[in-house]
Amino acid sequence: MSDNPYDLAEEAAARLRERLGLDRIDVALVLGSGWSSATEVLDPIASCELADLPGFSAPVVPGHGGRLIAVRTPGGRVAAIFTGRTHLYEGRGVDAVVHGVRTAAAAGASRIVLTNGCGGLDPNRPPGTVVLIADHLNLTGATPLRGARFVDLSEAYSRDLRDLARRVEPGLGEGVYVQFHGPQFETPAEVRMAGILGGDLVGMSTTLETIAAREAGMEVLGLSLVTNLAAGLSPVPLDHHDVQEAGQEAGPRLQRLVTGLLEVL
Ligand code: HPA
Repeated sequence: MSDNPYDLAEEAAARLRERLGLDRIDVALVLGSGWSSATEVLDPIASCELADLPGFSAPVVPGHGGRLIAVRTPGGRVAAIFTGRTHLYEGRGVDAVVHGVRTAAAAGASRIVLTNGCGGLDPNRPPGTVVLIADHLNLTGATPLRGARFVDLSEAYSRDLRDLARRVEPGLGEGVYVQFHGPQFETPAEVRMAGILGGDLVGMSTTLETIAAREAGMEVLGLSLVTNLAAGLSPVPLDHHDVQEAGQEAGPRLQRLVTGLLEVL
């Protein structure tokens, strides 16, 4: 296995094509916390364990899956669905966090849908609300880029793909996603800071993957499921189980959204 993350992604992409028996993939989808029920309505043409591909390892968080499922979209394209992701807080490094994104790019994907479960800052967007990510604040202090790679992020989250998503679900609003390192949830003061800085949603994923996807030239659609009101806005303490439960409750809606997206992407 290569030490170089880009070569490692090429190796993983080659194995992925072999395991799935497919020449290439066209679209990738990463399902974050709360989104896994979206797979229940899909009709896979192939699948494999991510941990069997070079550079991936088994998921550590219950509720975060570890399979890759390939489906054929109604438009005839191949979508590869990652049922889990590696988070920065797992301590495996930034390369591991973006390895799925780089593998998808190396396997041919030109578009990627990054989903997550997050805390919401707006009480008018209760748990169960899906928000299109319009932009992000990366407060992790980390980047997947090494050396002088000056990647443009003026439109990190594609306007065209946001428009496409609104064809599927016209009422989708937009927001700025703020990534913290985690795994602790934010303090109320950190949530207030995120709001003052222009954030609408807080979470522990996505921004580093978006940076890697943009570096690879992929168009990014970011979708956040508000699983809870952010710390300080909610009368109850935050709990990972509530995050998962919010996802289950939103299940049928997320299934319709994901199915609809596969029709237009
Ligand atoms: N904060 C950070 N990450 C999260 C949250 C939150 O409130 N909810 C789900 N993931």
